[in-house]
Amino acid sequence: MGINERLARIRGVRRDLAIDGPAWTREPDRDFETVTLPERDCDLLRDLLIAERVETVVEVGLAYGSSALAIGEALTTVDASHPRHIVIDPFQHRAFNNVGWDLLRSAGLDAITTLLPQPSSIALARLVSDGFVADAAFVDGSHRYHEVFVDLYFLHTIVRPGGLIVLDDDWTPSVRTAARYFEHHLGWIVLPEAFAAGTHWTLGRDPTAEAVPRCRALRLPDCPVEPSFEEFQPFWMAAASTRNPHRC
Ligand SMILES: C[S@@+](CC[C@H](N)C(=O)[O-])C[C@H]1O[C@@H](n2cnc3c(N)ncnc32)[C@H](O)[C@@H]1O
Repeated sequence: MGINERLARIRGVRRDLAIDGPAWTREPDRDFETVTLPERDCDLLRDLLIAERVETVVEVGLAYGSSALAIGEALTTVDASHPRHIVIDPFQHRAFNNVGWDLLRSAGLDAITTLLPQPSSIALARLVSDGFVADAAFVDGSHRYHEVFVDLYFLHTIVRPGGLIVLDDDWTPSVRTAARYFEHHLGWIVLPEAFAAGTHWTLGRDPTAEAVPRCRALRLPDCPVEPSFEEFQPFWMAAASTRNPHRC
């Protein structure tokens, strides 16, 4: 099958999912709409990864597969020699009835995708120990602060210098606080335009608070930064101007 037919198949599965929803959803009403990455953000994620010419992507959190399909579309469009998509989710079978994986198979993306059915703290540690290197990562797994922090900790080693890490749900205090540590202390650079046209949420779901883009794209520095513990600043209170100046 040529690239155009492969892309048409992926886009067809994405379109049907966005319009009709998945064949199966979890119990709570509108679980798909609540959990999955909206189509507009999926398109922006796809376009960003295409612009980066990614060949290898790690994703945390498969659920209904909207973001995974968008990443698969990006990898297929780039058409590198060895495209690889590693997806980590311990609950895909137990909690999501394999619905995301079945969609990836319908789109023909199982040929380039590997599902690791373990918690990200275990799977990412194994990837580090295997010396695995990725061009980019998309993080939408557990939203507990310490688990997001651990995801970012391992991805700091897995994603190559100059590579990209995209986070979903940057409006939640837990995700936001974890990300800000790496921005303030390890020199991760925000790409503010990447998701400016995406969906927005008010901080902490407080209707009186500022609305911010749901997703946040961060570029790792070309020279990895390992600051001394003595340089640590209480970043959750620090203004942008007090960030550590990082040099290679
Ligand atoms: C918000 S959903 C992901 C939505 C997905 N991006 C989509 O577009 O449908 C969060 C996912 O993270 C998974 N998850 C929860 N804890 C996890 C962990 N410790 N490691 C990896 N995945 C986890 C859940 O099973 C769920 O599938």
